Amino acid sequence: MEVSEKFLQTALDYIHDYINIVDKDYNIVFLNEASSRLARKKRQSLLGSKCYAELWKEKSPCENCVTGMVFVTGKPQQTIVWDTDSEGRRFCIEKFAFPILNNDGKVEYAVEIFRDITERKLLEEEREQQRLELGKRIREIRHAYEELKSLQNQLLQAEKMASIGLLASSLAHELDTPLTTISGYCELLSEEIKDDNLLGRIKTISEQISRCQKTIRNMLEFSRKSNLEKTQHNIRGLINNTLSVVEHRLLIHKIKLHKNFDEQTPSLFVDGNQIQQVILNLVNNSVDALPHGGDVFVETRVNKKTSSVEIIFEDNGIGIPVENQKHIFTPFFTTKETGKGTGLGLSICKNIITNHNGKIELENRVGGGTRFIISLPA
Ligand SMILES: Nc1ncnc2c1ncn2[C@@H]1O[C@H](COP(=O)(O)OP(=O)(O)OP(=O)(O)O)[C@@H](O)[C@H]1O
Ligand SMILES: [Mg+2]
Repeated sequence: MEVSEKFLQTALDYIHDYINIVDKDYNIVFLNEASSRLARKKRQSLLGSKCYAELWKEKSPCENCVTGMVFVTGKPQQTIVWDTDSEGRRFCIEKFAFPILNNDGKVEYAVEIFRDITERKLLEEEREQQRLELGKRIREIRHAYEELKSLQNQLLQAEKMASIGLLASSLAHELDTPLTTISGYCELLSEEIKDDNLLGRIKTISEQISRCQKTIRNMLEFSRKSNLEKTQHNIRGLINNTLSVVEHRLLIHKIKLHKNFDEQTPSLFVDGNQIQQVILNLVNNSVDALPHGGDVFVETRVNKKTSSVEIIFEDNGIGIPVENQKHIFTPFFTTKETGKGTGLGLSICKNIITNHNGKIELENRVGGGTRFIISLPA
């Protein structure tokens, strides 16, 4: 070996990458110490043998071999491949190969440098995994923050509602006495006055007072603390009694009442007065939704799957436009003319049903109109 060749061999032997030079038939013409360690043979015995057989234990040139590509293209090649060793460990090799040309400019040999980059790759993979994990965490934190913000808003809103409730109830008590007095005087006046014109005006005053009283009653109900007085109730009887109170009113408005009660409906442990109030609120809404008459359907049924009793309340009235549907249970939301609705009816219903651990949901009724489903735990 010449001195310069010896220098070169020594230098290359200290490099950890596998370095080989092969001819176009994949015969090894040079290899460094790392490569002979890979083949587990002495350097001398490897010279002249096939690189794919000795280094990679293959019967033919490796798939996508960079060296082969150098002989085909005459250009340097590079690739990264994952493989598994005889003990089942995954490893990653970065492969470079470049040509050595003869005097005619043809590729005579290819220099291949194979570098084991398993550790680096695993580290990169781990880092990528950590990056993804971090991204997920950040998204979770952001989501939690949004939820917190929305909860804070709800809390603020609840506080506001609570103070409105307090204000409303004291205001309502203050107003109730003078309104009752005015209403009493109206009655007295209408007994004494004979003039039809004046009687009409007094009637208007009375009607307006009734509206005020309704608003006040709703406000009081809304702000009332939920002290339920629960007793065992036959739910069909409870609904029947409530409906009998409004039957006459429905008749006047040309509304036909259809009842369909499941005989099996068990008795429920509820606050009867409050459930009656829910039904009355729903009836009132149906009357308002049926200005030219129509039908109201009340059904009870047992839902065995959810162990609950369902009260289904339907009318074939004007229905609720989609854009209003998400607001109807919000306090003070009303589409009725000023003075007619307080917008508290359905929020009172929701409070009452929620306090009974139940649910009230709106559905679009097939064939137009509105359908409410109340479910109460059986
Ligand atoms: N059966 C129904 N058909 C059509 N729209 C309805 C029906 N029930 C409720 N709504 C709509 O939901 C809104 C809210 O109803 P809610 O009972 O809370 O208040 P309100 O009826 O307007 O006022 P109040 O109950 O104080 O008289 C109504 O203004 C109406 O637009
Ligand atoms: Mg109402």
